[in-house]
Amino acid sequence: MLQVTALQKSFDGFMAVSDAHLHAAQGEITAVIGPNGAGKTTLFHLITGQITPDRGSIRFKDKDIVSLPPYAICRLGISRSYQVVNVFDRLDVFENVRVAVLSRQRRSFNLFANARRMAVKETREILQTVGLGDKAGRISGTLSHGDRKVLEIAVALGNRPELLILDEPTAGMSPEETEIVLQLMRRLRSEMGITLVFCEHDMEMVFTLADQIMVMQHGRTLIQDRPDAVRNHPEVRAAYLGDDEC
Ligand SMILES: Nc1ncnc2c1ncn2[C@@H]1O[C@H](COP(=O)(O)OP(=O)(O)OP(=O)(O)O)[C@@H](O)[C@H]1O
Ligand SMILES: [Mg+2]
Repeated sequence: MLQVTALQKSFDGFMAVSDAHLHAAQGEITAVIGPNGAGKTTLFHLITGQITPDRGSIRFKDKDIVSLPPYAICRLGISRSYQVVNVFDRLDVFENVRVAVLSRQRRSFNLFANARRMAVKETREILQTVGLGDKAGRISGTLSHGDRKVLEIAVALGNRPELLILDEPTAGMSPEETEIVLQLMRRLRSEMGITLVFCEHDMEMVFTLADQIMVMQHGRTLIQDRPDAVRNHPEVRAAYLGDDEC
């Protein structure tokens, strides 16, 4: 579904991403791991069109998306969440998601469709799916950190993505909140058929959840493979995981 090849991006001569390769198969969960500053967030910005690569190719469902603006990439079916939570703090939970649903519906519904009513129904369904149904009326800025991060996933679902990219979805969460997100990601895949790409520093979560793991170091891809192969890769152990860690 997604194929990133030899991607490169520098900022004022500093190579943040020097040679990134990533593939994500339909229905699979792919994790991107690597130390702070490895280039994970930059890679996600490149895939979703926030920044443009200097070199390399990004193909989504066999279409070259490198030169497309973010809204066009979003329309093709890629949504994302951010490392730093990005929701409207003053709107309530329901409105945050409804804005996203309406914005998608405006593009795909004709004039006779009752978009508003449909949006209400769909928003309720999304909030139910992510477990925020009983907090629909809460002002988003007053939610716990964990709930705000889940709300951001709900907003991304308003676009009905085929591919969902999550930048550190459990960062700063308690073990209980992390478990909720982990189960949610599994359900998004199994019940909604969404393909997931995420990056995360929590290795236990990564190795529990991912079908594929891509390891980044200094802007380049060291390896992408199944978790057991990554775990046993000598260079990965030495460079990042540490021989004691897994
Ligand atoms: N807009 C920018 N201008 C200059 N340098 C940047 C910019 N964006 C990222 N960088 C640099 O590129 C490198 C990669 O950053 P990036 O945020 O992609 O790393 P990361 O793997 O997501 O790290 P973390 O795990 O801490 O989130 C870092 O050295 C960062 O300082
Ligand atoms: Mg990052």
